[in-house]
Amino acid sequence: MLKNYKILTVTHKVTNTEDIADFIIPTDDKTELASRLNELKANYGLGELMYLATCNRVLFFFTNKIQPDTSFITSFFQSVNPNLAQQDAEYISENVQSIEGNKAIHHLYEIAASVDSMVVGEREIFRQLREAYEECRTYGLIGDNIRIAMSATVEVAKEVYARTRIGEKSVSVVSLAFRKLQETHVPTSARFLIVGAGKTNSLFAKFMLKHHYHNAVVFNRSIDKAQAIADELGAEARALSDLGNYQDDFDVMVVCTAAVEPIITQELYGKLVGKDERQRIVIDLSLPNNVSRDVVENFDVEYIDIENLRQLAKENMAFRLGEVEKARQLIGKRVEEFKMRFRQRQIERAMSDVPTQIKAIKSHAVEQVFKNELDKLDPEARDLLDRMMNYMEKRCIGIPMVAMKDAYRKLHHQAGINKDANPHNVK
Ligand SMILES: NC(=O)c1ccc[n+]([C@@H]2O[C@H](COP(=O)([O-])OP(=O)(O)OC[C@H]3O[C@@H](n4cnc5c(N)ncnc54)[C@H](OP(=O)(O)O)[C@@H]3O)[C@@H](O)[C@H]2O)c1
Repeated sequence: MLKNYKILTVTHKVTNTEDIADFIIPTDDKTELASRLNELKANYGLGELMYLATCNRVLFFFTNKIQPDTSFITSFFQSVNPNLAQQDAEYISENVQSIEGNKAIHHLYEIAASVDSMVVGEREIFRQLREAYEECRTYGLIGDNIRIAMSATVEVAKEVYARTRIGEKSVSVVSLAFRKLQETHVPTSARFLIVGAGKTNSLFAKFMLKHHYHNAVVFNRSIDKAQAIADELGAEARALSDLGNYQDDFDVMVVCTAAVEPIITQELYGKLVGKDERQRIVIDLSLPNNVSRDVVENFDVEYIDIENLRQLAKENMAFRLGEVEKARQLIGKRVEEFKMRFRQRQIERAMSDVPTQIKAIKSHAVEQVFKNELDKLDPEARDLLDRMMNYMEKRCIGIPMVAMKDAYRKLHHQAGINKDANPHNVK
């Protein structure tokens, strides 16, 4: 039954990242995770179970005949995380959303198509969802119902990404900064000075690595963080206090620290470039800016500033949000289609027993009902009868299958469904 599909979820739409963490199974160990999930499945009478945990959402997708009420939800999440035993049932139930039937399928489609994401259009969640499915499949938690639901989800998400522009136009400041840098056609041999080694510059360094920029020196207040980025890039790490003593040339400077006063003053920049006043690229991703205004005004710099990038990111997000309505329309149509696909699968399952039943009828007829008469037949007549029986068996098995395929073809034609879609493909 379609209404046996259930979702219990905690998302960024209802609560914050810190509270979401309370609803995650608290282990990094895969073997323990598998055993905890199998325990939940057995203890709560779940037919199948899939589990997804990210920093913005926890999702338990399962099949079960029971409607999860407050006491089920409270007990379930107290088993998920025993620390929740200290919390009252109200805290748990006000954070958990319970969704069932075709609404659960709808929710799954919206997650995969990143319509429900904190950053709409980020495909990362689609990858995470497929990984979660694969992982739960290897833990022996998945059966035919979740498999067909996920197969349809993958198809729908791919369709949304292909037929809408929801994932286009970057909304990440760092990615936009890197794109701007690329527009300057800076060669991969260019020398980078990276100032600051926090999350933002660490992400910037990942873009550098991906695009083969390795020639860099990383400066940071604490040397260990500088070293971590330098190690990834195969570059050099130095203390921020040493920046004034840097005497080699550079082409690009990437500055991003949480300092509230400019770090790259006019005096320091003048010292770094010396007499060579050719144009350099300066990227300042800090808020407030870490590169003094004097530097931009008095030196030949191609300046990439966070304020412009933030504005661009905002416009791009507005563009993505504009695509959400198109995605929703497509998803709504596909949920209707899934209802039919689900019924089809149920008939297939029921039909899968037909060949065995026909074989059993044949054996019963030969070995019991007509045994005495058959034993009296000469070998030629017996051979002919066996061949006739086998022929009849094969033809009888075929009749309901052909009738079923014919009925599906008509139904699919009426609903405009792609009959070649593979209900087993979750890749
Ligand atoms: N995260 C984002 O998505 C994002 C996007 C755009 C812009 N920003 C801006 O980027 C800046 C840094 O963000 P983040 O997320 O990378 O921060 P973060 O991970 O907390 O790292 C902060 C960095 O700043 C350094 N730092 C802090 N105070 C300093 C000071 N007084 N003098 C010199 N260095 C100092 C830290 O050095 P130690 O390692 O020695 O502590 C560290 O390298 C902020 O201005 C933020 O507004 C962030």
